[in-house]
Amino acid sequence: MRSFASDNNSGVHPDVLAAMQAANAGHCVGYGEDPWTARAIDLLHRHFGDHVAAYFVFLGTAANVLGLSAVCRQYHSVICAETAHINVDECGSPERFGGFKTLTIPPEHGKIAPGGVRPLLHGFGFVHHSQPRVISITQCTELGTVYTPDEVRALADLAHEHGMLLHMDGARLCNAAASLDLDMAALTRDCGVDVLSFGGTKNGMMYGEAVIFFDPALAHDFVYIRKQGMQLASKMRYVGAQFEALLGGGLWLDNARHANAMAARLAEGVRRVPGVEITRPVQTNAVFARMTRRAIEALQERYFFYVWDENLPEVRWMTSYDTTEGDVDAFVRDLQECAGL
Ligand SMILES: Cc1ncc(COP(=O)(O)O)c(C=O)c1O
Repeated sequence: MRSFASDNNSGVHPDVLAAMQAANAGHCVGYGEDPWTARAIDLLHRHFGDHVAAYFVFLGTAANVLGLSAVCRQYHSVICAETAHINVDECGSPERFGGFKTLTIPPEHGKIAPGGVRPLLHGFGFVHHSQPRVISITQCTELGTVYTPDEVRALADLAHEHGMLLHMDGARLCNAAASLDLDMAALTRDCGVDVLSFGGTKNGMMYGEAVIFFDPALAHDFVYIRKQGMQLASKMRYVGAQFEALLGGGLWLDNARHANAMAARLAEGVRRVPGVEITRPVQTNAVFARMTRRAIEALQERYFFYVWDENLPEVRWMTSYDTTEGDVDAFVRDLQECAGL
């Protein structure tokens, strides 16, 4: 089966699996005190800066919730887009485990900007009001769009002017970096990001994400928060080995570039199909489109994918590091048949 539902429908990149297999020899100390984890943390320092504090967790949801929990008290609020994963796709775990409140603003193709955030920046020091603490953005966004470094910097400046922090959900940061042809520090550290959830799973790993604090002082309780949050991997060497495979050479970029290129190819094909309209700028590895319900149902008999917005209706198709040109072309042919029904 080939799926265009999500980049996490793909398997594990063979180099990542080989690295896990190679790590599967002998005994080593658990809970991150192993050489694989140490080398992977060194690689995160190389990509994001020597001074960062970096920790591995299993899931992207956990990276977000625990990273935010490290910098928020329960009377704080986190400002994000209505479409943010933390707002709509984490089953309320930010509220349950973090305890803080999410305040949302309507995004433009998944992105928020200072003008949208400013009206929520009030009530500081007012005892009846949750205290704005973090602006959270997703890079690339849930709609597949990217923030430019200037756009990230503007939000970081706004946060810092108000004594707040900027969090980035970088579940697909590699795709954003590939799209903008920038290194990952240029999109995070150099733009004033304070806390980053850095994704591995969607870019060819089996599991594993990192939480990165650009000011290590923000991380001073994180080891306890991670353990209480049930995300301290006992056999952490397998997470470390995967990140080593991804970040040691150019695999992170090759995978992301390939996924993005396949989405561009898909968009090109979709644009030629009458009755199907692309609804979002295609900048990374997602294509959003509108077509009739009948066409959607017919295509869903051949492929599994998500209807993003039932009302429009709008669908989401995603490509992955292992999507082939043949997969894309076959999908477009099927789309052509279904759209004509
Ligand atoms: C933008 C974004 N952030 C976070 C996550 C969470 O990842 P996980 O499913 O590993 O919890 C996802 C997963 O789809 C995502 O798309």
